[in-house]
Amino acid sequence: MKRIAVLTSGGDAPGMNAAIRSVVRTGLHNGLEVFGVSRGYAGLMAGDMVLMDQRSVGDIIQRAGTILRSARSEEFKTEEGQKKAVEQLEARGIEGLVVIGGDGSFRGARSLSKWGVKAIGIPGSIDNDIPCTDYTIGFDTAVNTALDAITKIRDTASSHGRVNVIEVMGRRAGFLALTAGFAGGAEHILIPEVPFDLDEVCQKIIEGYKRGKTHNIIVVAEGVWGYQGPERPAGESVGFRIGELVREKTRLETRVTVLGYIQRGGAPTALDRILGSRFGARAVELLLEGKAGRMVGIIGDQIKDFDIDYALEQTKNVNLDYYRIARILS
Ligand code: ADP
Ligand code: F6P
Repeated sequence: MKRIAVLTSGGDAPGMNAAIRSVVRTGLHNGLEVFGVSRGYAGLMAGDMVLMDQRSVGDIIQRAGTILRSARSEEFKTEEGQKKAVEQLEARGIEGLVVIGGDGSFRGARSLSKWGVKAIGIPGSIDNDIPCTDYTIGFDTAVNTALDAITKIRDTASSHGRVNVIEVMGRRAGFLALTAGFAGGAEHILIPEVPFDLDEVCQKIIEGYKRGKTHNIIVVAEGVWGYQGPERPAGESVGFRIGELVREKTRLETRVTVLGYIQRGGAPTALDRILGSRFGARAVELLLEGKAGRMVGIIGDQIKDFDIDYALEQTKNVNLDYYRIARILS
């Protein structure tokens, strides 16, 4: 293998730049030419890519977002779209492709594998909802961003004796809400994976209030829209809906904060920079070993690789021990 390419796709995540830097520099170290593709699969279909050098990935390890930019493309889901992408790679003699993104991006990588492209997936998403890896790039940074917000809101919640509902991202999954809520000492954590009864939650809030409790933090995963129901409709907020219901049921002053896109930015934590760097290096090594159709993951502290087809069939569960202990401690 002489030429490879790297792209970022789907929702960006802090630490993706560290992964790009690692793919480029590990590739160059091993005598490969490395192309950086702009705007994910949309850019791949358009042939929007440039040759990267050492300096092109300088000064990015500390930056969130992705220097390659990201995009979602409906066209790429079609055979015609995929053929366009394959033609662009073949025209440049690019044999290997590293895809940094979430499960949708992995489905894209899998479809390219079926056309003979040697693709390797690197899990990058603040949602941490990708199987076969304990952590995805960006999750740790997003947890710390959400935790910082929860901590600040807790300060003012105590002063005013209010109920504060905080909506956290995560798409359909509760990893981010559960981890940040647990670390933040939230009184209630509502996630799609665990059924809950809002009447019971409100009853506990009222009882706590009578005992003199000065604050009540409810962390809500955006994925509980419709309470364990379908994905959040665009532009709608489950946090505001829960806030309204809590206000009605408890008659307590209730405030709502939707954390939103701040969770996708901010300097990546040490963990995310190191994870991105390790994943990037391993992805290139796999290509050099002639492997394809695989994703890298971290299990314990070991970097492993798995068949993408196999990974996409697995489900990843939140750690219910977090939930159990959080309930006891709140
Ligand atoms: P994420 O990678 O963060 O989960 P998306 O689900 O939006 O984000 O997927 C990113 C892109 O991957 C999509 O816009 C599309 O181009 C591609 N993709 C998603 N699902 C498929 C699929 N089943 N087949 C081919 N490409 C897909
Ligand atoms: O997958 C990452 C994520 O931030 C989810 O937590 C969220 O539901 C979604 O992306 C938002 O997507 P978009 O960037 O398209 O608004």
